[in-house]
Amino acid sequence: MIVVTTPTGQIGSQVVRRLLDHGSAVRVIVRDASRLDRAVREQVETVEGSHDDSAVLDQALPGADAVFWLVPPNPHASSAAEHYLTFARAGAAAVTRHEVGHVVGVSSAGHGWPAPAGILSAAFAMDAELARSGAAYRALSMPFYMENLLRQLDVIRGQGVFYLTCAGHLPLASIATRDIAGRAADLLTDRSWTGQENLPLFGPDRLTPDGMAEVISQEIGRPVAYRRMTPDDFASMLRSQGASDQAVKDRIEMNTAQEHGIYDADWTHAEPAATDFRTWCRDVLGPAVDAIRADVV
Ligand SMILES: NC(=O)c1ccc[n+]([C@@H]2O[C@H](COP(=O)([O-])OP(=O)(O)OC[C@H]3O[C@@H](n4cnc5c(N)ncnc54)[C@H](OP(=O)(O)O)[C@@H]3O)[C@@H](O)[C@H]2O)c1
Repeated sequence: MIVVTTPTGQIGSQVVRRLLDHGSAVRVIVRDASRLDRAVREQVETVEGSHDDSAVLDQALPGADAVFWLVPPNPHASSAAEHYLTFARAGAAAVTRHEVGHVVGVSSAGHGWPAPAGILSAAFAMDAELARSGAAYRALSMPFYMENLLRQLDVIRGQGVFYLTCAGHLPLASIATRDIAGRAADLLTDRSWTGQENLPLFGPDRLTPDGMAEVISQEIGRPVAYRRMTPDDFASMLRSQGASDQAVKDRIEMNTAQEHGIYDADWTHAEPAATDFRTWCRDVLGPAVDAIRADVV
């Protein structure tokens, strides 16, 4: 039995589909089972609740051979460290209690970075907590998700721009979430691995934001430019969305660490994932932009 957290999320939902395709028995922890695809709901066992709740974990983990573990993003968390650790402590204790053999966690690239890195440091603290559970553990360690750009479909389509805070001319490592889900499913189904390790997983190319804009323009057939946001503008935007001072600090620290190369060491020895940025634009971004155009027409 493989237990999957966040089965309605962009990575978790793809992990579930891959496990079902493989013929695995799957149990999901989900806050609201009606949010699962109907076909999925019919093929999985369901435990309703959140995976930061020990009672929910005690329903979900008996008999589990492996767990797919992901802490949901929460931009409104008063502290990223507290948010990740609340989930991780509950998860690690339950893994120990129920003697689960293998855990695959979604973490971030950049372990060992010597300075505070906000949300990324919180993910590294999660890994340390899960490692203490005694289970065999792989911390999937990724850079920037290509899917982050899907949040900017409106400005990409409407204004022909996209925004990030990093320099336009410096490489930004990235990964497509389908490759994360694929690697997670492989680890969950072939459990011949032992020990506790970070597993850096990066897309095969490392374009700059300016280079990404060029590829996006070519693939969607209209000009798109990269615009850099200043840290002050970024902080103001987060505050206008209700972020606390600590939440703003967590995001700014993360962006600063990215700017200063937190992903560089992992990039040199990461497993190359299959999907390059152009392929992702062709398969995912382009159709998403077209779908908005169709809605507008
Ligand atoms: N974005 C990046 O560039 C990047 C890079 C490296 C690592 N990461 C990590 O990747 C993870 C994000 O994965 P994702 O993109 O697949 O997330 P996602 O698509 O935003 O999915 C979030 C999932 O969490 C569930 N959820 C939300 N709040 C919850 C709560 N309080 N209790 C239980 N479940 C809850 C949601 O379910 P319902 O709402 O349906 O209940 C949904 O299934 C984060 O841990 C992030 O730190 C991100």
